[in-house]
Amino acid sequence: MRLRVDGDTRLLVLTGAGVSAESGVPTFRDANGLWESHPIEQVATPEGFDADPRLVWRFYSERRRKAKTVHPNPGHLALAEADGRMGDRFLLVTQNVDGLHRRAGSRRLVEIHGSLFETRCSVCPRAPFPDEREYLGDPPPCEECRTRGRDGRLRPAVVWFGEVLDPARLSQISSFIDDARGQLVFLAVGTSGVVYPAAGLVVQARAAGGETWLVNAEAADNTRAFHHFVKGPSGKVLPELFEWA
Ligand code: OAD
Repeated sequence: MRLRVDGDTRLLVLTGAGVSAESGVPTFRDANGLWESHPIEQVATPEGFDADPRLVWRFYSERRRKAKTVHPNPGHLALAEADGRMGDRFLLVTQNVDGLHRRAGSRRLVEIHGSLFETRCSVCPRAPFPDEREYLGDPPPCEECRTRGRDGRLRPAVVWFGEVLDPARLSQISSFIDDARGQLVFLAVGTSGVVYPAAGLVVQARAAGGETWLVNAEAADNTRAFHHFVKGPSGKVLPELFEWA
């Protein structure tokens, strides 16, 4: 089964941890997944960070370290190629924080759960900044807060449970769907379909008249919401999926 792309098609892609599995990045909910070995409330909530910021930074420092040792796989590269061919008729939304899409060459990219390689302040609204360092001791203070007599601490610029997604990023996605006017194709790849709002994009795409595709190693929670389901590893499926008309 192939996904036909012609000169009018607008392609919105959503990726999850599965697209990076063949690069050696652990997914979240599979056996040996990241959430199997680390309680979510300790390492992926603002309350966990308040309770033990050293533990949280050790966890993210380790993820930073590992993410630097892996490489994009043919699935990432196929999406970067689609980006290059389609230009502004293409948008990639990823829940992944590993930076592999960018390293593969994707440019029209919205990282809705943030990035492992950015840091921000836990208190003040300063913009996230690029940061690859590993913090193993006390979390570093925010310099901008310090000059104002506050004691903000730096934290990973990833979205945690209980936090809202950046409204500017969400409206970029909604605008893409609205502007597609009958030419929308939505493709979800490597995601279990349980974390919202990403899991609801298929419903939004269908409401806009879009054709919807899922590429996943196993059935996802919301498989029935899609018109087409291609079961298999994305590193093998994606390079063969598109039929360029
Ligand atoms: P999950 O771990 O929940 O799901 C990964 C999905 O990828 C599963 O359905 C697997 O069957 C599938 N999969 C595994 N290997 C694959 C492969 N080689 N090719 C294709 N599919 C494969 O990961 P996400 O859906 O990304 O959020 O999780 C969503 C969010 O939940 C994450 O962004 C993270 C997590 O908690 C936050 O941290 C806020």
